[in-house]
Amino acid sequence: MPNVNTLTLSGTGVAGVQIPQIGLGTWPHTGQASTDMVAMAIANGYRHIDTAQKYGNEDAVGKAVRASSVARDELFITTKLINRYFGEVAIVREGIEHSLQETGLDYIDLMLIHWPNPQLGNYVQTCASLAQLVETGLIRAWGVSNFKPAHVQAVADAGLAIPINQIQVDPLSGQPDYVAANAALDVVVGAYSPTGRDVNLSEFPALVQAAERHGKTPHQIVLRWHVQQGRIAVPRSAHAERQRENLDVFDFELSDAEITAINALDNGSRARLDADEYGH
Ligand SMILES: NC(=O)c1ccc[n+]([C@@H]2O[C@H](COP(=O)([O-])OP(=O)(O)OC[C@H]3O[C@@H](n4cnc5c(N)ncnc54)[C@H](OP(=O)(O)O)[C@@H]3O)[C@@H](O)[C@H]2O)c1
Repeated sequence: MPNVNTLTLSGTGVAGVQIPQIGLGTWPHTGQASTDMVAMAIANGYRHIDTAQKYGNEDAVGKAVRASSVARDELFITTKLINRYFGEVAIVREGIEHSLQETGLDYIDLMLIHWPNPQLGNYVQTCASLAQLVETGLIRAWGVSNFKPAHVQAVADAGLAIPINQIQVDPLSGQPDYVAANAALDVVVGAYSPTGRDVNLSEFPALVQAAERHGKTPHQIVLRWHVQQGRIAVPRSAHAERQRENLDVFDFELSDAEITAINALDNGSRARLDADEYGH
């Protein structure tokens, strides 16, 4: 089993929660395919699984977690709240309880606000509610997703420290200014679509050359690039070999020059979806 590093999440209401740096992404698989993928991942050494209410697979993920011989407290389950559960404590609690019912679990390790939905005007209040609900034990930590720097700043201005923001980051869409805005407020960055989803990584010499030097694959180089810069990454694969490959990134180190060369692949593009326009 690979030795997967953990990071510490801290913020309002959250003190010292350990999160494995590599987790398994589960979108868009649902039903038995999702249960099988998650069961396979746990057998392959994954201890962190990323789901969401919107994915329609919390039930399938929970089924695999409950059937696993790995103790619940050795697994880290992230899910994400949809906007019908935004607002004051009681409604957010209802949202958490919905996820508990779907997954069949007693608690969620990390509950993220999936999208800020700024037009609703209540993402700051929802953050405060989540932070308060940590003390119920129904969630161990909270965070946000798809929050742009202005949204993160608005939460900070309300006196709340966000533990983690899961955003789209990959070598071609590195969004260094967004990453820096989170770092400036001590918000851990979680990378989704961390390998660019449909990008052919073998087209990029910076990745291929680093892969040759370290005896790794371009996917492993990209995941190591995230890990070494202190990010969480949730790559998705339904294939056992690729799952193992994606987790096996803790036994080598990229040089500063290699990191710089990968950073240079950034083409200035933003996330596929604009969080000021899109949400659910
Ligand atoms: N917060 C949000 O709004 C948000 C948005 C999007 C995604 N996410 C999360 O992020 C997770 C990952 O993002 P993603 O699924 O968009 O993109 P991704 O993980 O960057 O890429 C997934 C694709 O890469 C392939 N792949 C995985 N490992 C590989 C390897 N070692 N070699 C070659 N190909 C490989 C997979 O194919 P196979 O499965 O066939 O191996 C799949 O087609 C999602 O599943 C979801 O949990 C969150």
